[in-house]
Amino acid sequence: MRKAEQLKQIVAKEAVNYVKDGMKLGLGSGSTMYFFMKELGERVNNGLKIVGIPTSNKTAEWARDFHVPLTDFSKTQELDLAIDGADEVDPNLQLIKGGGGALLREKVVAASAKEFLVIVDESKIVEHLGKFPLPVEIVPFGWEVTANKIAALGCEPERRIVNDNVYITDNGNYILDCKFDKITEPEKLNNELQSLVGVVDNGLFVNMTSKVLISNPEQVKVMDK
Ligand code: A5P
Repeated sequence: MRKAEQLKQIVAKEAVNYVKDGMKLGLGSGSTMYFFMKELGERVNNGLKIVGIPTSNKTAEWARDFHVPLTDFSKTQELDLAIDGADEVDPNLQLIKGGGGALLREKVVAASAKEFLVIVDESKIVEHLGKFPLPVEIVPFGWEVTANKIAALGCEPERRIVNDNVYITDNGNYILDCKFDKITEPEKLNNELQSLVGVVDNGLFVNMTSKVLISNPEQVKVMDK
């Protein structure tokens, strides 16, 4: 396994120790979460009783593969703990997410959890958000107009293309990857984006994170407020 993959696996294994019997979980998306789901499945096979709400079709697929029981918001509207990866984490625990395109469901799930635990390797830690292009989920209708409005906030939006096809989210929307120079006021930018017609949500997770676990080759560090 490559070093980067190993660091993801290490932090994911540590995160599973935060899961307690009887918990209702939010299950994030992305390659770090793959390792978490695998480890969680092993604990479930050994008797751990939990249920989880997945944030993407991919995570739901992993849950089936690893025998992690799922539930949905029709049965429960409050989760004990949501766990997810991130693309960037700043010193105030503000995040950029959505590199995998699942930002909307990830935000809905994180917002309904009492605690939001973020798991990353040290490459995701930044002084200022924004090197990673900010994913913004927008409705397809009139997307050109929405893209112009977002560009006026000081970035270059690019519609996400994967394997020569326009990327469509699990919710049937487009993603614009928006390169800002440096995001010094994440809360302000989040509010500006959310006020634009056509924007469904964006990858800034502001004041949502309870704790971040960060793996480096020596250890797993904890960052909290
Ligand atoms: C998915 O939409 C994202 O928000 C992921 O949580 C984020 O991109 C981190 O993914 P990796 O664990 O694959 O780096």
